[in-house]
Amino acid sequence: MVMLKNRDIISILDFTKEEISYVLDLSKKMEEQSHTDLLKGKILANLFFEPSTRTRLSFETAMKRLGGDVIGFDDPGKTSTVKGESLKDSVKIVEGYCDIIVLRHFLEGASRLTADTVNVPVINAGDGASQHPTQTFLDLYTIKNTKGGLEGLKVGFLGDLKYGRTAHSLAYALTHFNAEMFFISPPSLRIPKDYIDQLKSRGITYHEVDSLFEIRSNLDILYCTRIQKERFADPVEYEKVRGIYKLSSAVLDDLKLGNDLKILHPLPRVEEMDESLDSTDYAAYFQQAHSGVPVREALLAAVLGVLQ
Ligand code: CP
Repeated sequence: MVMLKNRDIISILDFTKEEISYVLDLSKKMEEQSHTDLLKGKILANLFFEPSTRTRLSFETAMKRLGGDVIGFDDPGKTSTVKGESLKDSVKIVEGYCDIIVLRHFLEGASRLTADTVNVPVINAGDGASQHPTQTFLDLYTIKNTKGGLEGLKVGFLGDLKYGRTAHSLAYALTHFNAEMFFISPPSLRIPKDYIDQLKSRGITYHEVDSLFEIRSNLDILYCTRIQKERFADPVEYEKVRGIYKLSSAVLDDLKLGNDLKILHPLPRVEEMDESLDSTDYAAYFQQAHSGVPVREALLAAVLGVLQ
């Protein structure tokens, strides 16, 4: 029996395969049927200490579609943080105003600290270069919808695998589904050792290469990521890898990664993915972004205990 009521969503590693599958099934139900008034009277606090378009707005849409309300901020510069208030004090206050907190923060561990501080459920909407678990639920939902299932897929991860929190969470989640993983990045942006250790401990086959042209296999999914400029301590290091990958329709045709390949990207994109891909059968990234609403509806309804 899956019980998500009052659960914090901090790391995808906190979820079993059964729980992940349950959330994906619930997301499907949310997409197929409207559930107006399910969260009537509930208030979500969206606390965004870093910029966001998709995550913040899809949480807001999800809450409002279910009849709930939203408070919060997306500019910490207009909060008492600028007067020196600590995150711990801020969230202790906000818990008295809401039923659930969604937090995006530039510090790794900020969501865990918040969950340890407050008595309402906390959802990690991205903490530094660590994790972004709700993105992973919608990534899995998109993969399942486009590929017909999740088991035994060949999944490539391209780009900034050092700082890309969405790639980290998805790689962890796919260990439940026996994926073969291909990590394609410049040597300076390899996926951190902790993630590789987790794959090894779960017996997952993986490969690390510098270029997509080194891949000698068809892929089911290519998960493309942006080079995370804002996480580099040294701008010179960013300039060395800036624009290193540029996917376009022509490049994809040259690569011969398989006609059934689907490209996902958490977005925003900058230089790594050309608009020429948007009209091809490879592109699944807009569908992926829109899946954020039903998936976040499912997570909010389950955590707030109105659907189990
Ligand atoms: N995918 C994602 O996290 O996008 P935003 O930064 O716009 O929320």
